[in-house]
Amino acid sequence: MKVTVIGTGYVGLVTGACMAEWGHDVMCLDLDAAKIARLQRGEVPIYEPGLRELIMRNQPAGRLRFTTDVAASVEHGDIQFIAVGTPPDEDGSADLRHVLEAARQIACHMDSFKLVVNKSTVPVGTAQRVSTLLEEELGRRAVRCGFAVVSNPEFLKEGSAVADFLQPDRVIIGCGSGTADRRAREWMTQLYAPLERTSSQLLWMETRSAELTKYAANAMLATRISLMNEYANLAEALGADIEEVRRGLGSDPRIGAHFLKAGIGYGGSCFPKDVRALIRMSEQAHVSHHVLDAVEAVNSRQKFKLVEKLQKRFGASLSGRTVAIWGLAFKPETDDMREAPSRCIVGELLRLGAIVRVFDPVAMPAARRAFAQDLAAYPRRLANIHWASSALDAARGSDALLLVTEWVEFSHIDPVQLAKTLSMPLVLDGRNAWEPSLLASAGIEHRGIGRIP
Ligand code: UGA
Repeated sequence: MKVTVIGTGYVGLVTGACMAEWGHDVMCLDLDAAKIARLQRGEVPIYEPGLRELIMRNQPAGRLRFTTDVAASVEHGDIQFIAVGTPPDEDGSADLRHVLEAARQIACHMDSFKLVVNKSTVPVGTAQRVSTLLEEELGRRAVRCGFAVVSNPEFLKEGSAVADFLQPDRVIIGCGSGTADRRAREWMTQLYAPLERTSSQLLWMETRSAELTKYAANAMLATRISLMNEYANLAEALGADIEEVRRGLGSDPRIGAHFLKAGIGYGGSCFPKDVRALIRMSEQAHVSHHVLDAVEAVNSRQKFKLVEKLQKRFGASLSGRTVAIWGLAFKPETDDMREAPSRCIVGELLRLGAIVRVFDPVAMPAARRAFAQDLAAYPRRLANIHWASSALDAARGSDALLLVTEWVEFSHIDPVQLAKTLSMPLVLDGRNAWEPSLLASAGIEHRGIGRIP
């Protein structure tokens, strides 16, 4: 099928590349000419396992094209995916400017039936707004061609986005029931036909339900994490081990084992933003949101847990202390620094006077930009960040090591060598990535989150 994807961010690029992999004829549009030029040269602007290979295979085969030409891209796709960003407004609600602008561009250039698919994370009612906008614009142009708008939210996770797209648990499609919607159903079924080979299912529902499902899913997962973090703090106070509690909980099929890892809070471009957007939607609908408020409050506090532990050990001021940080990205297998807990942790350590030695296998360039931005008003603090060349280099001479992002390579570290490298053998494990006994065998004191010391 002929598909256009508007927006080459995370979701747009993965959607375009995967659709091309399925054999569809895909054109990706972005107004950022420099980004499109890089993509045309085969350079992938984000770190995402497997994505580069898909682009390198499908672009030369002619199934995947990148352009800045709006008219050509609207003409190309019978199906027009809107996959542009919906950054948070000042009040936390999703900013729909780019979504509505994309819809307007489609309406300005279309002269045949188009199926418009909302892939961006958008508040409930957005498909309706897009429909109204298309109608108005087409009316203004006196063009009489039909269209349908469906909601097809994305559930891919950074770091496993390609696999999540190609083998999803389910595909949610929100669709109306008019005549144009029948054609929309047929086309969406054809588009996702390659999934028949997997056990994935298409879940059809009302458009508004699909829109809400996206936020509800992210907020549900965020809720599990915040609840587990609260349990972890309780376990610590009561002398229980959250990892054992997790095993006990996860083995109940009604609860399930996923997203129960306690740690230093969730980050990234989705959970924090979507929880806030859902709170805003609830406010606007005059519906209470006590649980969501608590999820956010627990998460904000949890990001400072490791610093609190350090202060308990060394006193309120960390002046004269050197602290190693392993992992900066908000989670492994990505270089994404958006709302990464490392930003709060490093900022707070520097404020308390510490020197910080940081290392991340992939996110160092992104982290440099993030910290330069966060600390723009504090150049002296910024100068107290030492950018290490390896994990052990970061640990060298440090009074404590904080594990912030659980990259696999950190779990393979030799504890004896680590003990020799640190100036004090203290490890605060913000992701419960190590068995305490492993580090203890090398004489390292290991403190996890919610674990028995
Ligand atoms: C999340 C959802 O998992 C995807 O389904 C969704 O499509 C995506 O948001 C989105 O809305 O675009 P993502 O933000 O890439 O995906 O990352 P996750 O793997 O969900 O992790 C989010 C955060 O939760 C990370 O900071 C991670 O460290 C934390 N986390 C995750 C925990 O603290 N404990 C867990 O058990 C799991």
